Amino acid sequence: MSAINLDQRLSSRTLERHPFPIPTGWFFVDYSENLKPGEVRNVELFDQEWVLYRNESGVPGMTDPYCPHLGAHIGHGGTVCGDHLRCPFHHWEYDEQGYCKKIPYAKVMPPIVKKGPILLTLPTLDKYGMIWAWYHPNCVAPTWELPYIPEMEDASGWVGSRRGTWSANTFLQEIAENGVDVAHLKFLHGAPIIPPVDAAYEGHRMKLDIGHGYILGDIHGPGLQVMHFHQNGITATMISYTQPVTAGRSQMNMSFRHPDYSDDAAKFKEAERVVDHMIGAAAGESSAGFEAVDFMVWNHKKYRPKPLLCDGDGPILKFRKWFSQFYVEPQTAAQA
Ligand code: FES
Ligand SMILES: [Fe+2]
Repeated sequence: MSAINLDQRLSSRTLERHPFPIPTGWFFVDYSENLKPGEVRNVELFDQEWVLYRNESGVPGMTDPYCPHLGAHIGHGGTVCGDHLRCPFHHWEYDEQGYCKKIPYAKVMPPIVKKGPILLTLPTLDKYGMIWAWYHPNCVAPTWELPYIPEMEDASGWVGSRRGTWSANTFLQEIAENGVDVAHLKFLHGAPIIPPVDAAYEGHRMKLDIGHGYILGDIHGPGLQVMHFHQNGITATMISYTQPVTAGRSQMNMSFRHPDYSDDAAKFKEAERVVDHMIGAAAGESSAGFEAVDFMVWNHKKYRPKPLLCDGDGPILKFRKWFSQFYVEPQTAAQA
């Protein structure tokens, strides 16, 4: 009998649960209807606290909490003043790009204030009925745009905006990796077969084809996945937009849509069943949706940078290589 291989590669002792920084990209912040003009609130996202607000013209903004003047936390007592966010301490006012627009008691504005923004802000916008923020550790402007999603943006033809939110003690890449890990579909979820998977990568996008057209996925960076399910003559779409709350905690959010089959009761029922199936709520099924089982794994696993794979596994290493483009080294003050 040979001894167990205690190769460093196989030992779990040095492994970490979440070895990566927050990835760069567009991320869901909240549903648009949850932030009214004039509202100011604190949110935890991207491993820090932010002040989220909507100015009186309806434009959302997201800023670092600490005022560049004397460091007051703008999210405690700050208010919206027209198009500006006003710090409670001495009423300095900022626009959504972080420019200081007003110091009510200064005869001359400090020169640095005229040169550029002084308060760190994130590019934010409303799309799909949601607020989105662009996160980049070095404040680089967005390098891609959020795509057009007919299911979310067409005024008619789509129904069933069921939504869900789940918290997972893991990082985004682990959750996204499930998309290419087709073997777990059979063994963890109880799918009848290991479906074939085809993945294509182009810049920040990844296209997935699971089961020869059964699921067609359109992935836009680390924060937005659009998965089209085709089954029994119907289609249903799962739009998922997971948030990196901290380096090791993620908030999974999803919307489910399908064509308006209201003139065909059987199709409508089937579309609803497919949606139930995605979240594991379908009655009398042997397979388990992600709610029941994926979290069990995510909440406790460690990340193996050099996994032991076999020929039946999906294209996990290619996926990881693609995802690594979203990890950007933060610049130090000296480099900036
Ligand atoms: S600390 Fe914000 S205005 Fe003075
Ligand atoms: Fe899964």
